[in-house]
Amino acid sequence: MEIKKVFVVGAGLMGSGISQVCATAGYDVTMRDINDEAVARGMKEIEKSLGRFVKKEKISEADAKAAAARVTGTTEMAAAADADLVVEAVFEKLELKQDVFGQLDEIARPECILATNTSAISITSIAAATKRPDKVAGTHFFSPVPMMRLCELIRGLLTSDETMKAVEDWAVSLGKETVLVQKDVAGFIANRVGLAMFGVAISLVEAGVASPQDIDKAMKLGFAHRMGPCETADLTGIDVLTNAMKAIYNETQDERHWPPELMLRMVTAGLLGRKTGKGFYDYSSGEQVAYWTV
Ligand SMILES: NC(=O)c1ccc[n+]([C@@H]2O[C@H](COP(=O)([O-])OP(=O)(O)OC[C@H]3O[C@@H](n4cnc5c(N)ncnc54)[C@H](O)[C@@H]3O)[C@@H](O)[C@H]2O)c1
Repeated sequence: MEIKKVFVVGAGLMGSGISQVCATAGYDVTMRDINDEAVARGMKEIEKSLGRFVKKEKISEADAKAAAARVTGTTEMAAAADADLVVEAVFEKLELKQDVFGQLDEIARPECILATNTSAISITSIAAATKRPDKVAGTHFFSPVPMMRLCELIRGLLTSDETMKAVEDWAVSLGKETVLVQKDVAGFIANRVGLAMFGVAISLVEAGVASPQDIDKAMKLGFAHRMGPCETADLTGIDVLTNAMKAIYNETQDERHWPPELMLRMVTAGLLGRKTGKGFYDYSSGEQVAYWTV
């Protein structure tokens, strides 16, 4: 089935980014959130981000205007009725996602594919809220969506080959590189591997083996990572990583995925990383300054 119209549920960080890349690639996009303020915020983010692309001369002013004009904001779920593809990017809560998918299943045409941008929730459990689990897939974009090239494509237990092919073609048409996650495992590929690395790196800080600066330096110079695990953890948010690790642990019951105690204490202490000014580094001066000593 040809995808022309995309309906995005959620106009937050990810929903607005996904709407922007779809519109830039020529799709007609309707972006839905629960109230006018949230929709307006999402539309503003798209305009701001397109403006940055114009400034960097990555897109012409006319193309940016045309892309912005292809996005319509709404608070109505009913507007999903003529979509070929829906991408859900609401808060990371199973009950909320199941509720959204239950509604979409009633509203969207039977051939419409329903995709979720979940970071850690099982695709199969979201699909279970619909009568079309063969048409439900995971399309996991990374933040900021217009900049990050990866989109993980996740097959739920009942997702059809046809659906996987359709979401792959669509993601490629957005200029993304895709990886196929053939089984619906917690954390998919990137978070499963990445979180394990963060966990080990933070355990080494906790044990006093090395400073965050030296761990980051080792991974950058030894493995050619662009950023080290401790500075990446600060950027993502220690709370976000802790929750993601707990989610993988809850699914697998494998203690290797349980966050180190240091992470739990940092969350309690409000040392969440860049967003609170301190994490493994101190950002209060506007620069990333060494803070943790071992
Ligand atoms: N932030 C990231 O770096 C990142 C990366 C990959 C995946 N994700 C996943 O993407 C999803 C969205 O994350 P985000 O960071 O954009 O969150 P966000 O908090 O920025 O945005 C979520 C939006 O969903 C809206 N919403 C809530 N219920 C809704 C409903 N019923 N209908 C329509 N809109 C509704 C909220 O009002 C909010 O604007 C989550 O599942 C998250 O795990 C996030």
